[in-house]
Amino acid sequence: MSKIPGAVFPRVLDKELPLAVRSEGVWIEGDDGKRYLDASGGAVVVNVGHGRKEIADAVFAQLRTLSYVHPTMFTSPSLEQLSQALAARTPAGLDRFYFMSSGSEAVESAIKLARQIHLARGNPERQVLISRWKSYHGLTMGALAAAGRTSFRLPFYPMLHDAVHIPPPYCLRCAYGLSYPECRLRCALALDETIQNIGPAAVSAFIGETVSGATLAVYPPPPGYWPLVRQICDRHGVLLILDEVMCGMGRTGRWFAAEHYEVAPDLMTLGKGLSGGTLALSAVATSTAHMETIRNNGGSFVHGGTFSHNAVACAAGLAAMGILERERLVERAASLGEKLGEALMNRLGASPWVADIRGLGMMWGIEIVKDRETLQPFARAEKVTERIWKALFEEGVIVYKSVAMAGTDGDGLVVAPPFVITEEQIHLAADKLAGAIDRVLSSTSE
Ligand SMILES: Cc1ncc(COP(=O)(O)O)c(C=O)c1O
Repeated sequence: MSKIPGAVFPRVLDKELPLAVRSEGVWIEGDDGKRYLDASGGAVVVNVGHGRKEIADAVFAQLRTLSYVHPTMFTSPSLEQLSQALAARTPAGLDRFYFMSSGSEAVESAIKLARQIHLARGNPERQVLISRWKSYHGLTMGALAAAGRTSFRLPFYPMLHDAVHIPPPYCLRCAYGLSYPECRLRCALALDETIQNIGPAAVSAFIGETVSGATLAVYPPPPGYWPLVRQICDRHGVLLILDEVMCGMGRTGRWFAAEHYEVAPDLMTLGKGLSGGTLALSAVATSTAHMETIRNNGGSFVHGGTFSHNAVACAAGLAAMGILERERLVERAASLGEKLGEALMNRLGASPWVADIRGLGMMWGIEIVKDRETLQPFARAEKVTERIWKALFEEGVIVYKSVAMAGTDGDGLVVAPPFVITEEQIHLAADKLAGAIDRVLSSTSE
């Protein structure tokens, strides 16, 4: 293999990447002038569109007036204002926000916060975290232990302080071989069973993505799943953490995906679209009541973060929220999202290789199989997702890869564009996607 030029240690080591020099709206432009339609907002990040001047101006103004203060020494106007703006939108009871830089850190913070709430309540034995297989919660060791994405976990498995995993709500390939609604939400009842097996007095929290994202190629849970999980958590004194790093901030056509399911968590994580996909900004949301529990028992949250509560990142977040509000982009994500779903169904619904198209708002997944009748996946070694992704990228359309939802096999693609995408661009992306799947898989089947 030839030497990688330059001094960067790139994340992908098996190919050279094009140089991106500009981005605006739904477009990213390379230094060779080639334009890419960003139909996944990177990793489902860019919600308000690329190159928003309002965010640039807010960040510039913030840098010129107050660039950095330490979070234990000062508060700042942008921090206070963003917290207030979020509190007006988040599900009932979530009115306190601890800001970090990445989704992974938000998840770490939530895990530690849950533990500290139990310590403050005088329950030091509550320390076990329960999570789900086929989930993604981040790259740091705590978040990775919570995640149920085998290929990411395996190299570090002996080093993880592991969570206890239960099956996800993934009806297409139900872990119990059941069908909804006759299943009576067996996958949610697994939480009850697991808490009882561990011993309720030892369990700290349950964490799940409100709508499964990266690892399951988007999978909204069946009706009743979250209310039942909430009941089970309450019955056993277990805290509920909803991970909305991907599905929050308008992505599903509501400000937060929890609104679709009428569930109010104890803690909720945010990231990605929180800053419109510009500066590194994430948050864990909780209630004043939980914060007070900690305050009344020892004074402070034992945590850290040089760049936590960062004034400049909060200014970007505030500007992004302003755009979502002013341009009614969450409403647009709901209405145009339906068109996106329809376009994908129309173009791909009859494909012999498409097993399922699912999603809501501007968050859709396509699961690709070798045999649509039996749902037999392609062997992972065939790298079907990667080949389709590459064919599309070469044609100037970007989607997001999702693999290994069927055991260690399984192929999927995520379509989750910025909310400013037009109907015409949606059709362009759906057409190109259908063409790429056909081309790649027709040649594989020959
Ligand atoms: C649901 C969820 N949680 C956490 C993370 C981790 O976020 P980050 O990559 O910003 O650390 C991700 C990233 O994809 C995610 O989808």
